[in-house]
Amino acid sequence: MIPDLSGRVVLVTGGGSGIGAEVCRRFAAGGAKVAVLDRDAATAAAVAAEVNGLAITADVAEPEAVDAAVATTRDELGGLTDLVANAGLGRAKGLWDYTDKEFALIVGVNLTGTFNCMRAAIPVMLAGGGGSVVNVASLTGVRPTMGEGPYSAAKAGVIALTASGALEAAPTVRVNCVAPGMIRTPLTQMVTDTPEWLAGAEAGTPLGRVGEAHEVADVVVFLASDAASYITGQTIVVDGGSILPSLQSDALLRAIAGGAPG
Ligand SMILES: NC(=O)c1ccc[n+]([C@@H]2O[C@H](COP(=O)([O-])OP(=O)(O)OC[C@H]3O[C@@H](n4cnc5c(N)ncnc54)[C@H](O)[C@@H]3O)[C@@H](O)[C@H]2O)c1
Repeated sequence: MIPDLSGRVVLVTGGGSGIGAEVCRRFAAGGAKVAVLDRDAATAAAVAAEVNGLAITADVAEPEAVDAAVATTRDELGGLTDLVANAGLGRAKGLWDYTDKEFALIVGVNLTGTFNCMRAAIPVMLAGGGGSVVNVASLTGVRPTMGEGPYSAAKAGVIALTASGALEAAPTVRVNCVAPGMIRTPLTQMVTDTPEWLAGAEAGTPLGRVGEAHEVADVVVFLASDAASYITGQTIVVDGGSILPSLQSDALLRAIAGGAPG
């Protein structure tokens, strides 16, 4: 299941928790050297210890810190072949209730942070002769939802950056993206720990459940691996099919199919 990633050196942002931690575990299991970057020093250190990797404490919204993290990874692990730009955060409230500070934080981490990582890492990969970037966007970047306007806009920006980066880094470096739906991690704990909200999320998902972090990490390592050698510029939605239902029309079609007047 886990592809051969020996000889790879990966920098995983937001690697201390959730999806990022599972990505670190999979890269390590595939034989890669792993740099675990997180703004939370304790969780970065814990995951790095688990995968025998390098812990880096940094905020992806700060360009100098990201440049330094890329240089440290290259110098200490002997190169950089892979970036997984996964660090992110969200808030939920009405669009016109967001403060300037909240908007700047959400865009700064999710979009500017991804840009900072791509700008620092891709030239190193090009100089090294090859590599792969996998960005982590969100289903909301493809299909925006109520309450997450700035987050949806930032994640749509990540999808656009992925395509631009793929065009500019080709043919040496491939750049792809995953767009997760509702995944059980600390980020979504408020939803998954509230039975009626969890039931709502499950009801809106054809596969009938929320996803697990390893189910996103598996797609990330696939996109990074040689099995995806002819894929670049793409965003793969990993959401149990929840993008598919249009509940109103589905209900109507079910009613028609079940009792169409003869
Ligand atoms: N869980 C979901 O349902 C879901 C859905 C869609 C997209 N995503 C995206 O997946 C990614 C991972 O989310 P997760 O669910 O694993 O969340 P998580 O909260 O478990 O992990 C996110 C990690 O990123 C780190 N981080 C946050 N801001 C940072 C910064 N400025 N610099 C460095 N590190 C920072 C956090 O400390 C944390 O360790 C995020 O980009 C998130 O937007 C998650």
